[in-house]
Amino acid sequence: MYRASPLDGIALVTGASSGIGKAVALELARRGWRVALLARRAEALAAVVRERPDVLFPCVCDVTDGASVRSALAQLVAEHGRISLAFLNVGTYVPEADTGLDAASVMATFAINVGGTMTCLEPLIAHMKNQGGQIAVNASIAGYGGLPMASAYGASKAALINFCASQKFALDKLNVRLQLVCPGFVRTPLTDHNRFPMPALVEAEDAGRRICDGFQRGGFEITFPRRLSWTLKALNMLPYGLYFPLVARATGQR
Ligand SMILES: NC(=O)c1ccc[n+]([C@@H]2O[C@H](COP(=O)([O-])OP(=O)(O)OC[C@H]3O[C@@H](n4cnc5c(N)ncnc54)[C@H](OP(=O)(O)O)[C@@H]3O)[C@@H](O)[C@H]2O)c1
Repeated sequence: MYRASPLDGIALVTGASSGIGKAVALELARRGWRVALLARRAEALAAVVRERPDVLFPCVCDVTDGASVRSALAQLVAEHGRISLAFLNVGTYVPEADTGLDAASVMATFAINVGGTMTCLEPLIAHMKNQGGQIAVNASIAGYGGLPMASAYGASKAALINFCASQKFALDKLNVRLQLVCPGFVRTPLTDHNRFPMPALVEAEDAGRRICDGFQRGGFEITFPRRLSWTLKALNMLPYGLYFPLVARATGQR
């Protein structure tokens, strides 16, 4: 099974203008990669590129626009050569109220978290198949099971987890290594809005190192911090009659 190397081609990181994507892009640069940084905000991308202008280059694009993604990736390959590693990291979280459902917000979350991942995956698989490639999709431990105030976010991440576990069978046959990233809480602009305690919070730079270590190890799931992710995995093996009261107590629900 293919294992990506900086000698084979460039890396692509989506959602690289801030947070986890920025940290992974900078860590890959430290580990010898040339990295294409994809996001919508040109100025924010330019600021990251200035940290390592020798090996980082911007790719301004909205992942919800399939045609733009296809043409941006084609341009990247034409200018910089083969993409051998891709970290599909774009995602959003819209805080939820417990007073009613906003269907438009749920669909917008799915359009970015699930749809935006698919628009990148399709051309990347076509590009990598047979010659080899490594793709990691950023989901979340929130996708393991239902958590309060995270129904749209958690369901979109659950969709990615199930999708990747299913696609792995097909991609193994195409010599494309697929990995799933399930972080716990990481300090980024996305979590800066959270008004609840975030257990076992990890700094973005630490998350970047752990994710890049996982790329090098090559196993299917990259998850951290272990004590939080394994606790959630264990909770999700319980009958719902036990799961709901335990999660309600742990998260301060009445
Ligand atoms: N932070 C956590 O605790 C945590 C935990 C588990 C999983 N995650 C996942 O990690 C990923 C990154 O999150 P983060 O915490 O680093 O958040 P963040 O700092 O808000 O980063 C999100 C990135 O996605 C880009 N983006 C958003 N919508 C986009 C679009 N339509 N097209 C292109 N780029 C887009 C943003 O850049 P532009 O605005 O410039 O486009 C930004 O670079 C997400 O998938 C999130 O669900 C985060």
